[in-house]
Amino acid sequence: MSPHAPVPPVAPFACFVTGTDTGVGKTHASATLLRALHGAGYRTAGMKPVASGSEWRDGHWHNDDVAQLRAASSVAVPLGQTCPFLLRTPCSPHLAAAQEGVRITRAPIRAAFDALRRQADAVVVEGVGGFNVPLDAGAVRWNTADLAVMLSVPVVMVVGIRLGCLNHAVLTAEAIRARGLPLAGWIANRVDPDMLLADENIATLHASLDAPCLGELPWQLAPAAAAAAGRLELAPLLAAASRYQAEAAGLAA
Ligand SMILES: Nc1ncnc2c1ncn2[C@@H]1O[C@H](COP(=O)(O)OP(=O)(O)O)[C@@H](O)[C@H]1O
Ligand SMILES: [Mg+2]
Repeated sequence: MSPHAPVPPVAPFACFVTGTDTGVGKTHASATLLRALHGAGYRTAGMKPVASGSEWRDGHWHNDDVAQLRAASSVAVPLGQTCPFLLRTPCSPHLAAAQEGVRITRAPIRAAFDALRRQADAVVVEGVGGFNVPLDAGAVRWNTADLAVMLSVPVVMVVGIRLGCLNHAVLTAEAIRARGLPLAGWIANRVDPDMLLADENIATLHASLDAPCLGELPWQLAPAAAAAAGRLELAPLLAAASRYQAEAAGLAA
């Protein structure tokens, strides 16, 4: 295609990126997905609905996940849409919120997500920690699984390839399906360069998880989303998303 050829239209896409735990590479994988989607012609926006752990820098509260997602997005949006709940304390969001006198509620997240969908063709939402993390310790109890259900988008699971990942991956896949959400695919992220039998563990995941593997991200001293984008396969993810959308439209009709 010539550099001046019109980019063909793309179907709107959104997904929720969860992981087998905190620190497994959700942010790295989400940024890589954003880069891959942009390479496929999408206008992209990352979202981190709730982030805990930030510091005052250059006139605003800075959180690494939010910064990485914004750097990997192709559309410039207000910070409050990328992250409607940016908390300071680096701990579980419900505890950080309680410390700071904030209540994490659904409406601002829904509004920010809807705003991003109007500006971008593809929205990649990074969860918090693992699949089920509390968001509120008060009367309105809800967690990150409820958040994924509220957004009603397919889920991508990042598996940090390290000891314990087989159990965590199968349990997380079960939890996603138990909430009625499709597991659109999983990404193997090699977070431990010294892991014994890493390839065999990944083979076991292929055999255990009834969902497509979207790719493997190699261990990198300084993980770079742009460089890793070519390692992800988008076709199974986009197909799962359009199946889910068609099913949802069928149910609504
Ligand atoms: N493929 C990788 N190779 C090397 N380090 C990685 C890789 N993926 C993630 N990391 C590192 O692991 C840490 C956690 O990654 P991150 O994407 O922030 O995880 P999460 O979002 O699940 O908490 C970060 O320091 C990140 O740089
Ligand atoms: Mg993260």
